[in-house]
Amino acid sequence: MPVVNVNNRNQYALITGATSGFGYELAKLFAGDGYSLILVARSEDRLQEVATELKQQYSVEVTPISADLFRPEAAKEIYDEVQARGIVVNYLVNDAGQGEWGSSSILICNAVLILFS
Ligand SMILES: NC(=O)c1ccc[n+]([C@@H]2O[C@H](COP(=O)([O-])OP(=O)(O)OC[C@H]3O[C@@H](n4cnc5c(N)ncnc54)[C@H](OP(=O)(O)O)[C@@H]3O)[C@@H](O)[C@H]2O)c1
Repeated sequence: MPVVNVNNRNQYALITGATSGFGYELAKLFAGDGYSLILVARSEDRLQEVATELKQQYSVEVTPISADLFRPEAAKEIYDEVQARGIVVNYLVNDAGQGEWGSSSILICNAVLILFS
């Protein structure tokens, strides 16, 4: 098991699009540095799989939130859930999208960025 920096345990990184591609790779890097994670994507099964993997491999806290960020209300729902858990987000990786930098990806970015900045 890798050595984890426990000093970062109270720091939270929220990563959208965390179950594949860039987001997944960044989630592993944050976990490797000992950060607590909030992971967002649509597929609940894949989110659970990634959450279990990162918890087991890096002994970090992982909170999966299943949400479709194409829905206009989704960013606010995530924000409210994070607030309700009393979590302060220190880092935002706003990566959710669909494989290319289309207008839908830009809309996702705007909604999440506005709420968490
Ligand atoms: N790959 C490239 O060459 C490239 C180049 C420039 C920019 N980008 C941008 O970088 C970002 C990531 O690219 P990638 O290649 O790593 O993508 P990817 O492998 O397709 O991963 C996309 C991630 O976003 C999630 N996602 C997709 N639509 C979502 C939605 N509506 N709501 C919530 N989560 C959603 C996916 O999980 P679910 O499907 O389960 O939701 C997955 O976790 C994208 O925004 C893409 O536009 C990519």
